[in-house]
Amino acid sequence: MATTAILSALAEEQQGLMAQLQGTRRVERAGREFWLGSLQGQVLVLGLSRIGKVAAATTATALIEHFAVQRIVFTGVAGALGDAVNVGDVVVATGFVQHDMDASPLFPRFELPLYRQSLFACDAGLTALLFNASQATLNVMPGGVRVISPPAKPVVHQGLIASGDRFISTAQSAGGLKLALRAAGMDPLAVEMEGAAVAQVCHDYGVPFAAVRTISDRADDNATTDFQHFVTHVASHYALGIVNHLVRALVKQ
Ligand code: ADE
Repeated sequence: MATTAILSALAEEQQGLMAQLQGTRRVERAGREFWLGSLQGQVLVLGLSRIGKVAAATTATALIEHFAVQRIVFTGVAGALGDAVNVGDVVVATGFVQHDMDASPLFPRFELPLYRQSLFACDAGLTALLFNASQATLNVMPGGVRVISPPAKPVVHQGLIASGDRFISTAQSAGGLKLALRAAGMDPLAVEMEGAAVAQVCHDYGVPFAAVRTISDRADDNATTDFQHFVTHVASHYALGIVNHLVRALVKQ
């Protein structure tokens, strides 16, 4: 049976899933803990990405090389970059760009040297399942989770996410990032620190990848406070709901 890796950015997100996992077995690789088990009859391996692109790439490589996973699904939080994206919304990634990749003038800014591309697309089928799982989760908890500056109803967006080794915590840096990416024809909805690295590893190995990020902050001057509040009080509820809905859909396949 296919093994699905659920890679979480936050320990808080993993804890809820761990509690539901059956026949749990702990395996250590690359200085990381992984948890093997089953949920609704599906074989899962849970791991924490750690923070930043290199750490996340190592985790993804260990999942593929050691556990031979057939797909990787990432759950985490992100800062909003899109104008219509609010705290408490969910962004399902269609693809990733590394906003701090810049080998210019040798290669165009944002282009990955020797790949001849700036973006890695997520797997379309898995992304569609993740989008449906995210919507189903918000449908059963509309307002059930208290968010910081609540929009009327949290929205599930689908689009590009930018990753880089920087926590974006001023409106000025978020604005600069948006302008630079737009000048290169890209309009990301959210920013985080790992997804593009996992997308690149999955691309290299030919492993389907999908990612969902709940918006914890607006990558502005309040980002640090909003992020900490969200991570403690909200993020784990979303991740648990979304993964459960997703696994249910995988069972039906
Ligand atoms: N993850 C969550 N919020 C973020 C931000 N503002 N910048 C980078 N990564 C994030």
